[in-house]
Amino acid sequence: MERSYEVCLDEGGSLPEVLRGRFDGRRFALVTNSALEGLYGELIAGWCRELDAVKCVIPDGERYKCLNTWKDILDTLLEARLGRDAVVVAFGGGVVGDIAGFAAASFMRGIDYVQVPTTLLAMVDSSVGGKTAVNHPLGKNLIGAFHQPALVWIETRFLSTLPDRHFFSGYAEVFKNAFIGGEEMFSFIDRHHEDLMAKDRAALSEAIGRSVAIKAAIVSEDERESGTRALLNFGHTFAHALEHYYNYVGVLHGEAVHWGMACALDLARRQAIIPPAHTQRFEALSAKLLKPVLPSRPEPERLYESMFTDKKVRRGALRLILPTAPGVSAICDDVGKEPIVATLSDLFAG
Ligand SMILES: NC(=O)c1ccc[n+]([C@@H]2O[C@H](COP(=O)([O-])OP(=O)(O)OC[C@H]3O[C@@H](n4cnc5c(N)ncnc54)[C@H](O)[C@@H]3O)[C@@H](O)[C@H]2O)c1
Repeated sequence: MERSYEVCLDEGGSLPEVLRGRFDGRRFALVTNSALEGLYGELIAGWCRELDAVKCVIPDGERYKCLNTWKDILDTLLEARLGRDAVVVAFGGGVVGDIAGFAAASFMRGIDYVQVPTTLLAMVDSSVGGKTAVNHPLGKNLIGAFHQPALVWIETRFLSTLPDRHFFSGYAEVFKNAFIGGEEMFSFIDRHHEDLMAKDRAALSEAIGRSVAIKAAIVSEDERESGTRALLNFGHTFAHALEHYYNYVGVLHGEAVHWGMACALDLARRQAIIPPAHTQRFEALSAKLLKPVLPSRPEPERLYESMFTDKKVRRGALRLILPTAPGVSAICDDVGKEPIVATLSDLFAG
């Protein structure tokens, strides 16, 4: 493992105090976006004052996760004459975290950064794991680096302003852990799904803590994605195909993952990968899976073709992660076209 870092979850206390304590005498740059600046302007201004931080506000939206915005961030750091000991603080969702992380990874060959995630997706997924990137016109996340944060600071209070659609989309990455995070996580999601959907703070805090621990355990085993990290992609081969199918318009990543998880579950049942002893428990869980509205009904054969555009396709073979027992999934490289198309036809029928 490259380096370990602390994840602080709803610890209370003041972020500037914690940062000044950890990075004594160092200079800070706070990166956020225009939407968060609108919602939390006073808080951000207070943090910047206390940290004497340079502020960099980028426009809101995935399309700004690009090299131009990355350059703007670096320009701001250079113009403020920050040095190798500077610390970047990323306050925002996955877009801000990814681009600010990549700026930190590349500024003066790599400086420290702190993730302060404000979306559910960023809290459980993008802020941990050390993947930073920007998009290129030829594809998403094509330019980036592995660079671990020095600290992740999570406050679930920020979720109170997150639009529902983004909340439910981010919940896919929590729910996913019911399939890969062990028997206890399976039961936890099964028991607390309704509380989580109702945004109960205590349940959310626990779900985030468990999700982060599961991701950290998998990533620390396999930081550069050769083997077990593939488990984190549960439901994602189908999801990436859906996103590609709709050209990334009208469907959020987590929405596609909700459908992807339903596909993986259906395929595992169809292939008898789930033993009959577990069928009932999986049926109960499956009833809780969200099925967000898609822009149109996908055509199964075309959607199947889209599955081969996934970055994780190896030598033309699909790699699927399929559930085998409560909380446990396996990497399957040998599922043929017929059952996959049958799953797609059934799930996306009429
Ligand atoms: N690095 C990784 O490992 C990793 C993993 C998964 C996804 N990602 C990346 O994450 C990005 C998606 O992240 P996201 O889903 O957080 O999207 P996002 O960052 O675009 O945030 C979604 C929307 O919510 C707004 N927002 C954020 N926090 C808010 C809050 N507390 N209150 C109100 N509004 C708020 C944002 O301004 C934005 O409009 C993608 O670029 C994806 O590639 C990275």
